Parts: sequence; structure tokens; C-alpha cells
Amino acid sequence: MSRTSYLPGFYKLSPEERVRIVKEFADLTEEETQLLLKAGNLDLSVADRMIENVIGTWPLPLGVATYFVINGRDYLIPMSIEEPSVVAAASNAAKMARPGGGFVASSTDPIMISQIQLVKVEDPEEARRQILAEKEKILEIANSQDPVLVRLGGGARDIEVRVIDTEMGKMVITHLLVDVRDAMGANTVNTMAEAVAPFIERIAGGKVYLRIISNLADRRLASARAIWKKDAIGGEEVVEGILHAYTFAAADPYRATTHNKGVMNGVIAVARATGQDTRAIEAGAHAYAARNGRYTTLTRYWRNEDGDLEGYIEMPMAVGIVGGITRVHPIAKIALKILGVKTARELAEVMAAVGLAQNFAALRALVTEGIQAGHMKLHARNLAMAAGATPDIVDEVVERMVREKAIRFDRAREIIEEIRRSRG
Ligand code: MEV
Repeated sequence: MSRTSYLPGFYKLSPEERVRIVKEFADLTEEETQLLLKAGNLDLSVADRMIENVIGTWPLPLGVATYFVINGRDYLIPMSIEEPSVVAAASNAAKMARPGGGFVASSTDPIMISQIQLVKVEDPEEARRQILAEKEKILEIANSQDPVLVRLGGGARDIEVRVIDTEMGKMVITHLLVDVRDAMGANTVNTMAEAVAPFIERIAGGKVYLRIISNLADRRLASARAIWKKDAIGGEEVVEGILHAYTFAAADPYRATTHNKGVMNGVIAVARATGQDTRAIEAGAHAYAARNGRYTTLTRYWRNEDGDLEGYIEMPMAVGIVGGITRVHPIAKIALKILGVKTARELAEVMAAVGLAQNFAALRALVTEGIQAGHMKLHARNLAMAAGATPDIVDEVVERMVREKAIRFDRAREIIEEIRRSRG
């Protein structure tokens, strides 16, 4: 059989049938195909309804960060991520924040923006006025799309109209501002934008093209702050180091990108665990970080009058606890239950706190022992276990490899032998 990706009807097959075709294409072994089809706690049939052309599921570790106190409440934070040290670092940062009272988080109303792009209008400023004059009618059309949301206290709240200059002339961009309550809201606001578009064309002339959410969710912000007492984090020297690390990032986009990557390690791990649209959160975060024309940090740090370190984060957080996969994916459901959040806003606040904690932990590691020490320890642990270290000796094997700066499989083997011999 020739290898071709031209596969009409592939989408109609069952996952098992698709795997058979992929097996042929990629010379998979029988063992590999069995592994593909061995779904874990996400049923293949559920996965097959979530996306197209499913041939398996792709598991990631799910961990739980400890020690978090946010707005006076204790949380266990489910995090799904492939990178070692992230969960430990978040937990450690949360532990060190406890003497300062933990995290204080807040959020705006869950307002999402939907954009309606109108082009080819003779007088864009006049079109703008006409659209604004029909605000009530536009809101009414939008809200007629989702009576349930309106009953729950949400719905389209306002409109804004901007005239922008583009390479293809002036465009009249209407923003629909919608309170989406506990949903992420993409479906809701997209439906509303599509419903409103013909009316906008009718009153303003021209032609509507795009009718779609803006992922720059800058009306749906979450923020968190924390005080890290200097004595809880290693003293004045560490405070000074973190301030230097922060100001470096604030001044330099090359560093700010990595700084924010550290924030997103935490934010996205919670997003994944709870079944959020991680790309929407990423896109919004980075656009927000560049909102003043230059990319900078999502967090800020300063020394307070007691000499302690204070940190603050503010970022868009388009997350939901209803709709999407949050009620379909069995692990997302359990993760939300572990978190115990009652609203999307509470989830957003928790995620902001985790982002701040993660960032703080990275900066602290960077200005003290460096980021590799923790990584190497985990690496050493994995090696030690692979080399056959039993739980009673694994710590000692790790410690010796780290001390000798010889984190290698063969050395792990030798140390295990030595320990066994010495213990008879
Ligand atoms: C690694 O995943 C994240 C860090 O690079 C973040 C940072 O440099 O601040 C450690």
C-alpha cells in the first residue's frame, strides 16, 4: 500500500479503524497501536466526540500544589504539566507566602469582548455614530440569543465603536461587551456577534466580515498580591536579588518573555487541569503584557516599609467552570471539585495567585541557587530509580550523586551497589 495522507472519509471511521490506517502509514508495531488505543481515564468514545480524527489520548501528569491560602481560604491546586519542579516551586512559594497572610486576589466582572468588523463604509465616523445611536437595539438583539445567560445575571452590557486605519482603508469595529458569568464565553459572544452583524450592516451600510471574540480579554482581569516576609525567603539579600531580577525583566523584552513564561507555567498548568482553553489565556496574557506598546512583565515587585517583598500580578483570565470541556472531561471535573471554586471569577483569582507564586519561585531560585539545582535533583532521582534504587535508599543515592556532581546512570548503579554492600 502506498503511503498517502489523502484519506477521504477518515473522519467517519472509529478510532480503532483510524489507528489501523496510521499503523500502516507509520509502520507502528502492534505494541504501539495497542498503547494508542489504551485510553486512560478519558474514554476514547468521549475523546472521539471532543475533536476530530481521534486515534488515542495523550496523558500528562496531574499534580497538586499545596500550601496555598487565597483570600483567607486554603486551596489544593491541581496542576497538569510535563515540566519537573513547577508544582514543587508553586507549593514552596505558597508556603513562604503564608507568614504574610497568603494571597489576596480579586477580579473584574467576567466581561468578554466580541468584535464586528465593518468595511467599505463611505463615512466611517458617521457609521460610528449611527451604530452607537442604536446601542439599545444592538444589546437587545445580542441578549435575545442567550436568555439563560440573561436570567443568570449576565448578557450584553455595552458597545464600543472604534474607527481604525488599515492597509485596506478605514474600518469600523464594533465591540460587544458581554458579561458571560461562569462561562469562558467564546461561544456566547461569537453567537451574539453573528446575530448583531446584519443589523449593523443595515443601519451603517458597508459590509461585515469578521464576527469573533477578542482574546485580548482586558475587561476580564484577575489580580493577586502577596507579601513575602524577608525572613521567610532567605533574608534581605534575596529580596534585593528578586528586585534586580524583576527590574531587568521590566526593562527588557527578552527577559520579560522568559519571566512571563514562568508565570504561565503555573497559570497554564491549572488551566489544563481544569479544562480551559489554554491558547486563549496565553494569547490574552502576552497581548496584555504588550498593551503599552512594549512587551513587559505581568507581575511587579517592590520592597515595603518593613523591608519585605511584595508582589502583584494582573492579567486577563478568560476561564469558565461551565461549558467547554469543563463538564465533559472527567478529570477536569474532578480538578474543579478539588479546587472547590464556585464561580469562574474565583477560578480566575486562584490562577492569578498561582501565576504570581510560580513567578516568585522562579525568580527566587534564579537569584539564589540557580534554576538547575532543583531540576538536577529531580533528574538524579529519576536516574536513581531507573538504576534500581529502592525507596529506602533513593534519597541517599540522589544526595551522593548531587554532591559528587556525577548525575549519571552508571554512577547511580555503583552507589546503589556500594550502599547495598555496606548494609550487608
Ligand atoms: C522555566 O520553565 C521558567 C523560568 O525560565 C522562568 C524564569 O526564568 O523566570 C525559570
